[in-house]
Amino acid sequence: MRPTLPLARRSTAISANVGLGERLFATSEERDFARLVDDGLALVDDGLALVEAGLLREVAFGDDVADVTGRYLLDAGGKRVRPMLTLLTAQLGDGNTDQVITAAQVAEITHLASLYHDDVMDEADLRRGVPSAQNVWGNSVAILTGDLLFARASQLVAGLGERAIRLQADTFERLVLGQLHETIGPRDGEDPIEHYLSVLADKTGSLISAAAQMGVIFSNAATEYEQAVRTFGEKVGVAFQLVDDVIDLSPQPEETGKLAGTDLRAGVQTLPLLRLRRLAEDDPESAALLERIERDVDDTAAEAEAEDAARDLDDAIAQLRDHEVTRATLDEARRWSREAVEALEPLPDGPVRKALTRFAESVVERTS
Ligand code: FPP
Ligand code: MG
Repeated sequence: MRPTLPLARRSTAISANVGLGERLFATSEERDFARLVDDGLALVDDGLALVEAGLLREVAFGDDVADVTGRYLLDAGGKRVRPMLTLLTAQLGDGNTDQVITAAQVAEITHLASLYHDDVMDEADLRRGVPSAQNVWGNSVAILTGDLLFARASQLVAGLGERAIRLQADTFERLVLGQLHETIGPRDGEDPIEHYLSVLADKTGSLISAAAQMGVIFSNAATEYEQAVRTFGEKVGVAFQLVDDVIDLSPQPEETGKLAGTDLRAGVQTLPLLRLRRLAEDDPESAALLERIERDVDDTAAEAEAEDAARDLDDAIAQLRDHEVTRATLDEARRWSREAVEALEPLPDGPVRKALTRFAESVVERTS
């Protein structure tokens, strides 16, 4: 089948770029963060426009198929959060240097590459509101497009020198190990919650962390800021994912177009479920709820009693939403966000630190 280009629906304004994963920050508090950055750090917006123009140039391979498939998810949207963090931390040094702009592009292209692969592994139907790449072109083309994008990120990184090459290689290794560990699950004797948190740190925190660090490195900012923004990025990434687990339990079709418990129904482990499993060892009520969820998930997958099971599962998900394990998950997300902000201690007081702080707060305030 001949691939067709989707309609582009993208904005380069930072106020349209405040989500961390694939979900937008939609609340007014979250938009405050964008405004803060817009007011105090217009340079970040200027940088994002340069990054965006460069991305369109870079994601081209001189091949009529690869040029379409490679731009597909770039054109479909995304919030450019990783480049935004690179540009933000670069304002601690010389600002939007050529190397900073390239580093921001590397972060986004690496992220894009991982999405093509992730959607194949997750058998995802949609990404950024469009059919996932493998739904349009099949698994092989989607995987190869991810590989091409990663090759392009590597070419860009080569121009940034050995530091960047090593950082990119280390980050790639963590992304892949995070995804691998998620796939195989905890080993015998490994604590499932510790395992889960380390998966989140690897598959999400590592690239956000590297994006923030590259802003410091390539703006020639003080080296003492590097570790601070690295830790910040990693912790914010974990906080974001934990809030996602809680949001998954809320029915918000108007914002997300998703049923409550989408991850849970797909058999994805989330922290509320892992905590419920731990509690179920000693608490019969939790054990009963866990058993009910697991049985309903199995039965909805099997045709026979699917409708009854789906109704019961809705009810069980509502119970899990109000359960102490979900409150504990939100508390845990807030803790990661607080620790992210604490890591910023070595940074000078000023718009960058303020914007990063607001960003970490927005991550745990969002409800969709
Ligand atoms: C999304 O997780 C997945 C990631 C953040 C990382 C995926 C990493 C790889 C596929 C390793 C290969 C990497 C490269 C660079 C080729 P999710 O499924 O929880 O989130 P979602 O809801 O956005 O799908
Ligand atoms: Mg996925």
